[in-house]
Amino acid sequence: MAIERHIADLERREKEAELLGGPERIQKQHDAGKLTARERALRLVDEGSFVEIDMFVTHQCTDFGIADKKILGDGVVVGHGRINGRLVFVFSQDFTVFGGSLSGAYAKKICKIMDLAGKVGAPVIGLNDSGGARIQEGVVSLAGYADIFLRNVMFSGVVPQVSAIMGPCAGGAVYSPAMTDFIVMVRDTSYMFVTGPDVIKTVTREDVSKEKLGGAEAHANLSGVAHLVAEDDQACLDLLRELLTFIPQNNMEDPPVRPTRDPTSRTDPKLRSVVPEDPNKPYDIRDIIRSVADDGAFLEIQPGYAQNIVIGFLHLGSRSIGVVANQPAALAGCLDINASVKAARFVRFCDAFNIPLLTFVDVPGFLPGTAQEWGGIIRHGSKLLYAFCEATVPKVTVITRKAYGGAYDVMSSKHIRGDVNLAFPTAEIAVMGPDGAVNVIFRKEIEEGNDAEKRRLELVQDYRSKFASPYKAAELGYVDEVIRPEETRPRLITAFEMLRNKRDSNPAKKHGNIPL
Ligand code: HXC
Repeated sequence: MAIERHIADLERREKEAELLGGPERIQKQHDAGKLTARERALRLVDEGSFVEIDMFVTHQCTDFGIADKKILGDGVVVGHGRINGRLVFVFSQDFTVFGGSLSGAYAKKICKIMDLAGKVGAPVIGLNDSGGARIQEGVVSLAGYADIFLRNVMFSGVVPQVSAIMGPCAGGAVYSPAMTDFIVMVRDTSYMFVTGPDVIKTVTREDVSKEKLGGAEAHANLSGVAHLVAEDDQACLDLLRELLTFIPQNNMEDPPVRPTRDPTSRTDPKLRSVVPEDPNKPYDIRDIIRSVADDGAFLEIQPGYAQNIVIGFLHLGSRSIGVVANQPAALAGCLDINASVKAARFVRFCDAFNIPLLTFVDVPGFLPGTAQEWGGIIRHGSKLLYAFCEATVPKVTVITRKAYGGAYDVMSSKHIRGDVNLAFPTAEIAVMGPDGAVNVIFRKEIEEGNDAEKRRLELVQDYRSKFASPYKAAELGYVDEVIRPEETRPRLITAFEMLRNKRDSNPAKKHGNIPL
């Protein structure tokens, strides 16, 4: 009989913990269109797989009258479960308890699962909904954040770390997500800022709403802090599950394989005409990406930010691949500061987690102008060069049209360890476009001759036929093959299959010094 009494006591305590901050606060959370922390954790993982730990932890603070305000779990639900059968660790912050703010005890719970994830090699998913440091705990709370930050960094590149922002996140609550690999925000209900509208008003007199300051739109389109946006909590959890289908459990594993019925030999005649005849006419590079992907499925990352470069994941012949592609439909595909930083971080993520890289090139060069030069395009552009140079995963490059100047070198060229470099017959590989080139090297001849415009056009045509093609580069072995566009998918699958067991490494060092 004794054990029944103990079990009843356990059940009473479990029920108490499940009450979170109480029915009223749970109702408030639901009324705001948000799920509770435990609902989120349970819905994120495969049904019935969640194992909660530290359910009975409470805070240890005795100041500001909160000694007797102890809530089991103390504002964060932590544990492990499975996503599509694969182990993940989860922490889910509970806005119904002290506004999800972080106490020392709460930080210890998060650190415990981060340490476990590091030891067993599984992703950490943080569902964030927090007012930052718990003000009543003072420096104990700051110490707790620092303990988490340290683990974010120690496990960076060891296990994937993914953050969902599912409510207001202020102060310390934004810096931990910022150091994880991906941030997904929920539209209309999530915000991220280091200092909120009230502080801004006091200090700078700027009047700004929290949506405008740090909502999903701001971070997806302006700051580049958010990688993906979901319409509501459920969509956000589904997106996290989808994202993980492309990513291995840790840096020692190969990426997961997703079976498909899409034939590896599938060709696409539409690709014959996707690159316009007129070199100045734009087209959407995503048409090529979707055409080659298994089942046409492409998960674009940061679609609203620096749209002149496209990054994201697809599967090719069932294998996960990271794509980086110039986008001729935005800024003619020029590389600028934001595009370089966006792509560089993605390349480094893929390289850290053994995800092969596919690069599509159609780039007229770096974006000219004082804004770019004074903004540090030299420093920021070199981040992408650095990232491609140091990446040792299989790298396959396809030049569809322009590959001009330094941008040719940067975009995973042969010279920086591109393994297989292909070109469409429409490729133009040169120091610059024919018009610009002729104006520089034949300026005197054009100015001095009769019928200047006719002579200029002749010279442009001559330059175009000599250099604005893939054949000079192919002659030199900088391009391995010139391929028929419709055969892109089978050619890519064959290339990545050939590279499957690639082994390459960089010289031993503490770490390089990427131009930050
Ligand atoms: C303790 C907090 C809290 C906090 C909110 N609450 N933030 N309690 N510490 N940091 C409590 C509120 O007192 C309230 O309790 C409940 O949570 C809900 O908060 P509301 O303000 O009613 O909710 P809402 O209007 O939705 O506003 C949410 C919010 C706002 C935007 C997050 O609460 C806010 O601005 N909080 C303060 C944010 C902040 O400045 N944090 C400290 C950052 S410093 P009751 O009982 O009244 O319902 C920091 C340092 C770390 O994080 C730096 C490391 C680098």
